[in-house]
Amino acid sequence: MFKREQFGDNFKWGVTISAFQNEGAAKADGKGPSIWDTFTDKPDNINNGDIIGEASDFYNRYEEDITLARQLGMDVFRFSISWARILPYGRGKINQAGIDFYHRVIDCCLNNNLTPYITLYHWDLPQALEDKGGWTNREIIDWFIDYVEICTKAFGDKVYNWIVMNEPMSFTGLGYFMGYHAPSRKGINHFLKAAHYTVLCMAQGGAKIRSLQPQANIGVALSCSYIKPVNQLPKHRRAAKRIEAMLNRFYLEPLLGLGYPSDVMPALKIIKSFFKNGDEQLMAFDFDFIGIQYYFRVVARHSLTPPVLFANEIPPTVRKANLNTMNLDVYPKGLYKLLKFYSSYPQIKKLIISESGVCYPDFLVKDHVYDVRRMKYHQKMLKQVRKAQDKGIHVTGYFVWTLVDNFEWKEGFEPRFGLVHVDFETQERTIKYSGQWFQSFLTKKASKK
Ligand code: BGC
Repeated sequence: MFKREQFGDNFKWGVTISAFQNEGAAKADGKGPSIWDTFTDKPDNINNGDIIGEASDFYNRYEEDITLARQLGMDVFRFSISWARILPYGRGKINQAGIDFYHRVIDCCLNNNLTPYITLYHWDLPQALEDKGGWTNREIIDWFIDYVEICTKAFGDKVYNWIVMNEPMSFTGLGYFMGYHAPSRKGINHFLKAAHYTVLCMAQGGAKIRSLQPQANIGVALSCSYIKPVNQLPKHRRAAKRIEAMLNRFYLEPLLGLGYPSDVMPALKIIKSFFKNGDEQLMAFDFDFIGIQYYFRVVARHSLTPPVLFANEIPPTVRKANLNTMNLDVYPKGLYKLLKFYSSYPQIKKLIISESGVCYPDFLVKDHVYDVRRMKYHQKMLKQVRKAQDKGIHVTGYFVWTLVDNFEWKEGFEPRFGLVHVDFETQERTIKYSGQWFQSFLTKKASKK
């Protein structure tokens, strides 16, 4: 088994959480509603009719959770800011109680020797902005940049690490194309508009932070999948390339100044109908790092539907894959292949695994959760990181999704990803076996000193 030192002295170990999934306190201290409050208000929208309630109550238990992260030996605490807690209507009047809350969180991180990484947007758009068209209204660029400016000015004396957005493909694809997530909108036009404005927001958001805080470390967190054609027939290989363009290249390449990946999908050129003069330049920004988040493998095949993509996925349940609670194909070896893929872009300066995790059913028996499978999962993922580093790939951090079990969006409370178990009735925390493994793995070096 490898040792912490082998990853390098500057390698950052972290945990990640998000505002909506952890905080609860949806109406506390002046917070406005977000699209996810609206969505979860209808229990039918959530699997098993789960009600979010206080989620994992981070709003009140942040000290306990941050202390736990420290106890596990982490260096980084990544969390997101709820836009509607800072600006209840998305713009206009600032809610000082919201700013104060995040100051308390940041101070607590710093007091525990944890470096805060702030995600500025993790899917919870203020409902008031959705009422004005949300991500499909080009005015979102001004709304978002104002919000970024407020946060950078409010927290920039203590925070240097910023992730402008989390997984744009997830919130635009699931929320504005498939209608599966909030705000339940569907269709290619909604998606392409939302996508283009999102790209502009990421690049211009990065530029805004840089202008206010030149020394900042600025990145984005992008979802990705390892994609394999079902067999080597050219039509399936081309289908896999198109899926790859959508899942792994679509948001990255415009940010790097390469435009949308229409080389393998000429139909994507229709996104240009939402361009204004100068957009090509405004879409790019020189990020300090790119965060990648890899949860599952996709086996792709050619198909007549859906149009434009002409490809689909062979469901993991049908091909007897190694499934997690969400029926996704868990395949750690894909991580090395993805790191190799991303390292082939000379524009990327560094890569971070900004989320990595797996959900399996957990059982709390006599105050113990023996989640060996989760521990092994992380060990296998870390082996891929080491392999990549040995091949000269610049990967500089591994942030676990997630610290404590939390609310898994549409899937409710059933999928558990945490290193720490939460009893959602009592909010009691119990460090799982996987958490204990991280603790001994990360603190060994310190104890030798
Ligand atoms: C998201 C998290 C989510 C996790 C597990 C990522 O896509 O950033 O919010 O909980 O995956 O599904």
